[in-house]
Amino acid sequence: MAPTPPPPHVLIFPFPAQGHVNAMLKLTELLLPAGLNITFLISAKDHRSLSGYANIHTRLNSFPGFQFHVIQGLYEGPLDSAEKLTIMFDCMSEKTTLLLRKLILDSPVTTCVIADGIMDFVLDAVEGTGVPVFSFRTISGCAFWAYFSIPDLINSGELPFQGTNMDELIVNVKGMEGFLRRRDLPSFCRSGLSNRTLQQVSRRIVSHIQKHCSNIYTIGPLHAHLKSRSLNKSISSNSLFEEDKTCIGWLDQQPPKSVLYVSFGSIATLTRDQLMEFWYGLVNSKKRFLWVIRKDLVSKDDDKLPSELENGTKERGYLVGWAPQEDVLAHPALGAFLTHNGWNSTLESIVAGIPMVSWPFFADQQINSRFVEAVWKLGIDMKDTCDRTTVERIVNEVMEVRKDEFTESAKRMAKLAMESVSEGGTSYSNLDRLIQDIKTMGV
Ligand code: UDX
Repeated sequence: MAPTPPPPHVLIFPFPAQGHVNAMLKLTELLLPAGLNITFLISAKDHRSLSGYANIHTRLNSFPGFQFHVIQGLYEGPLDSAEKLTIMFDCMSEKTTLLLRKLILDSPVTTCVIADGIMDFVLDAVEGTGVPVFSFRTISGCAFWAYFSIPDLINSGELPFQGTNMDELIVNVKGMEGFLRRRDLPSFCRSGLSNRTLQQVSRRIVSHIQKHCSNIYTIGPLHAHLKSRSLNKSISSNSLFEEDKTCIGWLDQQPPKSVLYVSFGSIATLTRDQLMEFWYGLVNSKKRFLWVIRKDLVSKDDDKLPSELENGTKERGYLVGWAPQEDVLAHPALGAFLTHNGWNSTLESIVAGIPMVSWPFFADQQINSRFVEAVWKLGIDMKDTCDRTTVERIVNEVMEVRKDEFTESAKRMAKLAMESVSEGGTSYSNLDRLIQDIKTMGV
């Protein structure tokens, strides 16, 4: 009798940042029960953090086909600016190109690589090995399409911007005519990059996309798949920071739908002035709020929290350094989410049926927030302003004046999201197709 072939072996490789590691760990948790073996490449820093703060080891250790491969020697500083992200990107490329080839060519035989779509060097590293690469996008389809359309914007003269009117409509991102403004484009479009640089960046991305990604799997909200497939009965944590769970006890004491949850994800930073404008806006809105103030949220030179903020919040607010966000969004006391619209947070808010106040920081977030307001009607985009009067007005608009309207559309959208991950739904079918295709590659 012929020996049974070993299960397909997949290398999963995220960019080392919370939003990326989180999403790709969730994908891992969906693929393991389907019988795939997985090696998950992770930076030493993220591995330490996950070991300290998340319950990931207990969840994944029950699968004998799972292992972490820890990458030593990567940049461990903050990732709060384009420059620092570039440092990390270059360091990753330098440290992992040879490693990837070695892992692929060594045993166990690698069936395919699922790599973070922002790391184009993986495609170069793998070239010639014959191993297929899936580019996994942690950003939304709408943001991805806007990135993809950059060459058209350059060729048509829409980029770089001529003049200073940021509300001018963009016409060359197909399907988004009529509502996409300059200010909604990915944030690097604002930076005054020369035409040449823009073209180089875009050509590099687009040529890779065209060469390697003719087949797209729209697998949708991964945390909702886990819930829908009952693979994760309690909410899983992939946190790289220590969660302060006391906020759940505080939420338990608040009336239904009364609390605004405020979080800007794991990378965004505020100046001290912005922090104070948000704080005054929140306090003046007279709404209850739960605010995640990471220890590196405020730019380094300003890192001590003003005392009025610590003392003056107690009446209606609660501050934490890092929250169990999925638990928070699922809590009945939650009324709305003031978010930077990172794609994980946006999806988590959509699935939980929570209206949003958007204050995008960078990258794909500008376009996500435009979709939140103009397309999905789930809240208001406060982009580019954070003075206290605006914060107060918009928080009240979403939590009071137009509360019913936003709650209704959030409920509708949550239902659609859950349908998409249920049997027969598009995300469900695409995830199954991905699993089947990987299994076929392994034969
Ligand atoms: C990054 C990019 O900024 C984002 O634009 C891109 O779409 C994904 O990668 P980040 O800024 O961290 O991510 O935001 P986001 O995508 O929202 O991911 C943050 C994750 O951290 C979410 O899954 C959220 O649940 C979690 N989180 C955040 C917590 O668990 N606790 C918190 O207190 C804050």
